[in-house]
Amino acid sequence: MARATAKKSSPASMAVFPGSFDPLTNGHVDIIERASEIFPQVIVAVLFNPSKESLFSQAERVALISKQFARYKGRVSVVSFSGLLVDFVQSTKSRVVIRGLRAISDFDYEAQMALINRKLAPKIETFFLTAREEHSYISSTVVKQVALLGGDVSKMVPKVVEQALSKKWQERQRLRRRPL
Ligand code: PNS
Repeated sequence: MARATAKKSSPASMAVFPGSFDPLTNGHVDIIERASEIFPQVIVAVLFNPSKESLFSQAERVALISKQFARYKGRVSVVSFSGLLVDFVQSTKSRVVIRGLRAISDFDYEAQMALINRKLAPKIETFFLTAREEHSYISSTVVKQVALLGGDVSKMVPKVVEQALSKKWQERQRLRRRPL
């Protein structure tokens, strides 16, 4: 009787999910949850890019994601990184980068990034998870636009982010009403 013999290899135990997360959306949450079902540990790596203007500060973005995943103690961690992604991934001893794909339009950019990262660090692999259909229209950019115009984003982001966006909107309203 033929018996399948699997070659023993060390499983990838850690995966890095990098992004700007300005802010975290339901699309991101879904990818992190699904990645954590495959990899024992997922590191959410929040890019610190001082030359790019963001709505939420670096600390705010890290805090919001940490709050959302507090119940995943140890299985999902949230950290900041700056510089090259591959350098950060190598510093964690992981070999896996996770990215979400919403539509074909994402593919060009994502494939280019994966290829550049492979050129820089051939041992690092990029794994793509396709977004759920119901999240395919969601992006941080659209969420910010809608929220800052007072629109309802409750179906696009987790509750903690919805509340934080509402605070930002209120702050902006106050500033607008302030006499010059
Ligand atoms: O959520 P985003 O903004 O699409 O994430 C993009 C991110 C952070 C993954 C990408 O910009 C990145 O990896 N930046 C770090 C700089 C880097 O390594 N660049 C070379 C690969 S393009």
